[in-house]
Amino acid sequence: MRIAIDGPAAAGKSTVAKMIAKRLGYVYIDTGAMYRALTLAALESNIDVDDEHSLTQLAEEIAITFKNDKDGQEVYINEHDVTKKIRDKDVTNNVSMVAKHQLVREKLVDMQRSLAREGNVVMDGRDIGTFVLPNAELKVFLIASVEERALRRHKENLENGFESDLEQLKEEIRKRDQLDSEREVAPLVKADDAIEIDTTNKSIDDVADTIYSLAQSRK
Ligand code: CDP
Ligand code: CDP
Repeated sequence: MRIAIDGPAAAGKSTVAKMIAKRLGYVYIDTGAMYRALTLAALESNIDVDDEHSLTQLAEEIAITFKNDKDGQEVYINEHDVTKKIRDKDVTNNVSMVAKHQLVREKLVDMQRSLAREGNVVMDGRDIGTFVLPNAELKVFLIASVEERALRRHKENLENGFESDLEQLKEEIRKRDQLDSEREVAPLVKADDAIEIDTTNKSIDDVADTIYSLAQSRK
């Protein structure tokens, strides 16, 4: 069983994907974290986000891996734990430029597909239902208004003791959604056979319950 969860930034994908994976005993795969890890490595190596060749080479050189622990999932580049660093503002504001390149995507999609071959998975991202796992047994497309999504990130920032500007967040989310939706290769778009859930006024538990029921009925 493969469950694909796609949607724009801060729609609640990773939060509910993790919950569903735990409930079903499946492996959770955060594909956004892979693009983020590559972006972090590129920034640290001073590789330009437009330099497709060097970015692709970098993707071949580094090992991006996940480790599941009781508090969630850790992300590693080689032996370095980059779980927190890949959420930095700098990474967030550059990741869509790295993710637009065809050759870069080919590398990461290969990794994602081979992880999915290992067993039951819940995978979240932008192109999982349309491109990475087009035959997934269940496809969900989560959306929410940009105001709601910016507010969620804002609260998250404040809770973690980070500075946060709601208007700026709104602008950044809009820009990233636009880049992700308008790129030529595997853009963010709902798959024809995906079930759309608007999470704007829904609690995390409500959304997770809905997807869990859908998964049970597709088993
Ligand atoms: O969690 P958040 O919505 O902020 O983003 P993410 O899922 O961590 O993804 C970060 C970025 O990676 C996205 O804005 C896309 O540019 C890219 N991405 C992608 O192109 N394809 C995917 N399957 C997943 C992420
Ligand atoms: O993975 P994605 O970027 O789509 O979103 P997320 O990181 O899972 O969720 C962004 C924030 O929204 C988190 O702080 C969640 O707790 C919150 N959230 C929410 O308030 N209500 C929902 N229905 C889903 C997520």
